[in-house]
Amino acid sequence: MTGGAGYIGSHAAKALRLAGHRAVIFDNLSAGHREAALGAPLVEGDIGDVDAVRRAIRDSGATAVMHFAGWLSVADSVRDPGGYYRNNVAGTLGTLEAMVAEGCRHFVFSSSCAVYGQAAGSPLRETAAPAPINAYGQSKLAIEQALPHFERAHGIRSIRLRYFNAAGADPDGELGEDHDPEIHVIPRAIAAAQAGARMEIYGEDYATPDGTCLRDYIHVSDLADAHVRALARLEGGGASATYNVGTERPSSVRDVIAAVERVTGLPVLRQAAPRREGDPAVLYACAERIREDLGWRPQRADLETIVADAWRWHAAHPRGFAMESR
Ligand code: UFG
Repeated sequence: MTGGAGYIGSHAAKALRLAGHRAVIFDNLSAGHREAALGAPLVEGDIGDVDAVRRAIRDSGATAVMHFAGWLSVADSVRDPGGYYRNNVAGTLGTLEAMVAEGCRHFVFSSSCAVYGQAAGSPLRETAAPAPINAYGQSKLAIEQALPHFERAHGIRSIRLRYFNAAGADPDGELGEDHDPEIHVIPRAIAAAQAGARMEIYGEDYATPDGTCLRDYIHVSDLADAHVRALARLEGGGASATYNVGTERPSSVRDVIAAVERVTGLPVLRQAAPRREGDPAVLYACAERIREDLGWRPQRADLETIVADAWRWHAAHPRGFAMESR
């Protein structure tokens, strides 16, 4: 699992172990955390180093690669497209070439709803024509489009999971979100509540019911479960496929803030700020395809449940994973 010490990767690694798999984590720890491996085998390495990826596949005897490693900030991708193409496109192509060389033929790819851009109007179906509006989304789409070629040429079957907004934390409290800097709205609202600081709302003049952007917040444990099911499909001989992974419920930035206030019992001070470049107004999923093909159903779909799990993690780990290594 590349990026298996990161936020989504670590939750997926835990879910895979609980499902009886042996998950080996490959992570350069630039954004991941050693503690997030929860004691699973961790190979320190960079996906840019194809030989290191090859060795990790060979030494672990991996029969599948789940590819979480990648950069994730829409705003940064607008400023630094080269970095996003290098990490998310070139790095992933190197990973695929390592798989080809080592005879590893199953690939689960962390894609994103950012591939849709402003395209089609929500709820988004996988059949909507992708039209990313930032380099991040474009980098994910580039890999999605490369994968059929790898299948034709090298027999690599793949599941592309288009995550909507990953949020929440492990309900057992072992794992949670720890980004530096933290860009995501739920942890930011929680941090603002804890500190009594102001959080910015990026745009209140969108064509949405309350003027703020609508997103589909999906619990990270539900995302993790989608990976377990994706792997089962590949191992069972199922065809390659692309799936939205979302709750199908749109929530606005104001809805998020209201949920954080209810869950924490603390006020969230806010302040209007300009729109953030690269932000589409509305993104939420139609998840019928993954329901039908993989039997996936989100178990913690309610925004308040998602925020409550995130809050439990942040309240217990105010400095994230750093607390454990003191
Ligand atoms: N927002 C604020 N204030 C903040 C942070 C965020 O108003 O301090 C707003 C954003 O403008 C956006 C919404 O909250 O409207 C959600 O923002 P996030 O940064 O939490 O999430 P994004 O929707 O921008 O990003 C997520 C994933 C990306 C993915 C993207 C698809 O993190 O990886 O969805 O658009 F590409």
